[in-house]
Amino acid sequence: KQDDDQLIIDAGQKQFGATTCSSCGMVYSADNPEDNFQHTQFHQRFLDSIKFVGWKKERVVAEFWDGKILLVMPDDPKYAIKKAEDVRRVADNELGFQQVALSRPTQAKTYLFINTERLVVGCLVAEPIRQAYRVLEQPDRHKDMTKDDFMERHRAWCCSTVPEQALCGISRIWVFSLARRQGIATRMLDTVRSTFMYGSPLTKEEIAFSDPTPDGKLFATKYCNT
Ligand code: ACO
Ligand code: ZN
Repeated sequence: KQDDDQLIIDAGQKQFGATTCSSCGMVYSADNPEDNFQHTQFHQRFLDSIKFVGWKKERVVAEFWDGKILLVMPDDPKYAIKKAEDVRRVADNELGFQQVALSRPTQAKTYLFINTERLVVGCLVAEPIRQAYRVLEQPDRHKDMTKDDFMERHRAWCCSTVPEQALCGISRIWVFSLARRQGIATRMLDTVRSTFMYGSPLTKEEIAFSDPTPDGKLFATKYCNT
């Protein structure tokens, strides 16, 4: 009986002190030493994953005042592939994807946005596809759900049953939480459109987003209508 009471008290305190790290996104209890330790470790691994030290050979596909976009191809040197994988893992972790494997690894192109502080703040994986199904407008019954409910419900978007021609599938797009709403995703997509197929820029209709999250859908809707 006493143990039960104790458990409840502990849970209450944990709930009360819950903190979300704005960089790595981990939820932990700042006043719990064990939790703090776990967070420090996770946080460090996260930072290591997005840290960019510079490469001997960089395929720079776009440059901006606040950063640059590098393209990593499947046959690139090990160090480039490894960094692309590390960042993809961070993104997958946030997206709740289980497996890190790509559907067509030999054809996937990874775009990394490197900021002036030498951090990889954006990652986009693009793959060639033939057709896609358009995501239809959300029915109202989802209106009251919170974002987390949404993620729980397998991202049940309604898709059209009519396939449409598309050439480039965006299987993942992720921007570092502290760097969002600065047009990084927009610039990465513009760069994909101009570089994905050599010599032939893609229209917005020729790219398709696979399995978008709520954030992804808001972004994609805005991007495709502008
Ligand atoms: N809510 C509402 N509108 C948004 C949001 C949002 N969360 N994100 C983007 N938009 C719209 C806005 O209109 C924005 O313009 P504004 O800032 O001038 O209003 C416009 O899209 C352009 O946004 P960007 O700044 O280019 O987008 P950002 O760099 O912030 O990246 C992204 C957007 C990639 C969705 C980011 O929020 C993210 O990484 N989220 C977590 C991971 C995720 O959900 N990724 C999408 C998965 S779907 C897939 O991978 C196929
Ligand atoms: Zn953290």
